[in-house]
Amino acid sequence: MDLLGAIEERRSTRAFLETPVDREKMETLIRYATQAPSAINLQPWELTVVSGEEKKRLSRILVKRMKERNISCGPGAKSPLPDYFVQRQRRLLDTIQPNLPGQIPFQDFINEGSCNFYGAPAAILISIDNVFLSARLTDIGVLVAYLLLSAHALGLGTCPIGLITAFDDDIKEILSIPENKQVVIGVAVGYRDTQSPINRSRSERVPLGDVVRWRE
Ligand SMILES: Cc1cc2nc3c(=O)[nH]c(=O)nc-3n(C[C@H](O)[C@H](O)[C@H](O)COP(=O)(O)O)c2cc1C
Repeated sequence: MDLLGAIEERRSTRAFLETPVDREKMETLIRYATQAPSAINLQPWELTVVSGEEKKRLSRILVKRMKERNISCGPGAKSPLPDYFVQRQRRLLDTIQPNLPGQIPFQDFINEGSCNFYGAPAAILISIDNVFLSARLTDIGVLVAYLLLSAHALGLGTCPIGLITAFDDDIKEILSIPENKQVVIGVAVGYRDTQSPINRSRSERVPLGDVVRWRE
């Protein structure tokens, strides 16, 4: 598949088929994703691949914890967002809202869906050793981009899930990830349910003029 075509086509998947992704395909996906560049080729990422009963168990616990602790998806900001960011958030809501299943409120769909990896048969939890400063999170971002695009090229849908970082301790305990690691992000992976209206939502991007400065 043409790379630029994949970049144009890819959008987050929030409804998956139950069809499992076989081990060989997951390995192929991860082999491509880990071709990502990293500072000094440190490859600071660690991946925990969860599927089958273990993934269901993880989702059950995360949904329970999310409700107990009233955790909700947010922008991860240290002060109130300037209005133009709020507008972008609103536009995403307007894109997804009409395609929500039943009468479920948007925030409930996102919170519960995220903790359940939107019903995907597999989830990849990406962690980093605590020895690294936050500068190395950039490397994880690059890995995730490679992962999302490689999955798309392999016929798989994905959704990055940042919400689950609120459950860092729980996830490490459930999946026996060592204490000295930090869970940075999760990615839901599976076959896209093409019949589901939610997967028709197509987020837009702001015009280049809103995010680029040219100095000549
Ligand atoms: C770092 C990161 C964290 C994200 N966390 C979540 C999440 O917790 N739940 C969710 O439903 N989507 C999550 N997303 C998906 C974004 O909402 C989505 O990428 C964005 O709206 C653009 O839409 P697109 O992926 O369809 O292009 C996350 C994306 C990124 C890059």
